[in-house]
Amino acid sequence: MKFFIDTANLEQIKEAQALGVLDGVTTNPSLMAKEGITGKNNILKHYVDICNIVDGDVSAEVIATDYEGMIKEGEELAELHEQIVVKIPMTKEGIKACKYFSDKGIRTNVTLVFSSGQALLAAKAGATYVSPFLGRLDDISTDGLNLIEEIRLIYDNYAFNTQILAASVRHTMHVVNCAKIGADVMTGPLSSILGLLKHPLTDSGLAQFLADYAKGNQ
Ligand code: E4P
Repeated sequence: MKFFIDTANLEQIKEAQALGVLDGVTTNPSLMAKEGITGKNNILKHYVDICNIVDGDVSAEVIATDYEGMIKEGEELAELHEQIVVKIPMTKEGIKACKYFSDKGIRTNVTLVFSSGQALLAAKAGATYVSPFLGRLDDISTDGLNLIEEIRLIYDNYAFNTQILAASVRHTMHVVNCAKIGADVMTGPLSSILGLLKHPLTDSGLAQFLADYAKGNQ
């Protein structure tokens, strides 16, 4: 499973990259705003800065909601850097734009996916990634993991190449459960990756090893 980090924070991206397990970055307009990145030029520069830190795909989201606008914006984003993947909302116009980009060899991430039907349509339009929002479904008492399982089944039935990018991952058990059901990628906060490190028996075992070594080597 690929690990993406879901942030526009350069320090956190550097920390995840330094761990050696990072495969990419996803951003969205809310995450950019959270870092205080505003204005078109600053936003475009920030995407390039992210690409220069990480070895892997960097999702950059279009703001336009009409087909022509998405094409114009998406082409501009794709030209910024070879690692850029154009992130498109799951709408009728977005699906048309996804097909256009797919035919042109520009990689896409169809975002805001909340049903298996939407995921099927995105795959038919040639999406590189489809992003079901696990955490936001869990937030409204709906089983987000179940959606990812359904998409896995549908994609495997027809050998679609579209990768399932489990998005809106909020914590470490989301990561583990996504791995169990075969999501191709997960994107979550740095804490969801670092949480995988933790086990009290690892900590106590290491403390014991070091104490025993110290006793024998005084
Ligand atoms: C997906 O690419 C989104 O950026 C993201 O995962 C949304 O997560 P949230 O529901 O925690 O905002």
